[in-house]
Amino acid sequence: MHTDFIEPIISVEQLKKRVSELAGLISADYPDSSNAPELRLIGVLKGSFVFLADLMRQIKRDVSIDFLSVSSYGNSTRSSRNPKIQQDLTCEISGVDVVLVEDIVDTGTTLKYICDVLEQRKPHSLRTVALLDKPSRRVAQISPSYVGFEIPDRFVVGYGLDYSQRFRNRPDICALMED
Ligand code: IMP
Repeated sequence: MHTDFIEPIISVEQLKKRVSELAGLISADYPDSSNAPELRLIGVLKGSFVFLADLMRQIKRDVSIDFLSVSSYGNSTRSSRNPKIQQDLTCEISGVDVVLVEDIVDTGTTLKYICDVLEQRKPHSLRTVALLDKPSRRVAQISPSYVGFEIPDRFVVGYGLDYSQRFRNRPDICALMED
């Protein structure tokens, strides 16, 4: 793996600590009880699968999981336009407490589109958790309910995030060098 053009910005230890804190917040907001709705984490493929896997194991109640993927048009380091569901959920979400799990929110176009689609399916509730947020790039009127780290406007990889399908298996978050 060539690593000469990436710069580590969030370490494995920082990720571990923050993911555990996020799981604590979610556990507190969705307490377990006999009449509580099912809690389902919905991961947006492919980037969120590492985050979701770590997050779910720190949540202190039973959760179910599902995934969807979204296709979009745009180049590789600038965000996407015109997102569309490419691979849909396997189960209905009506009556379910849904937490949508995103790797990163950039312009917010993708998150807004997915939330609009999911709201139409009448979940009991819908919140969103993003590991990373680039608020300076926001175009859509949306903010994640829970955010791991706010980051500056740099393209980042690792911990599930890719650049042209590379670097997903890095355990930390790195930024691509500008040139
Ligand atoms: P948005 O619709 O502009 O918010 O873009 C969200 C999607 O763009 C994310 O789910 C990622 O797939 C991708 N993306 C945006 N910024 C980055 C980045 O810095 N690294 C990797 N993927 C990114």
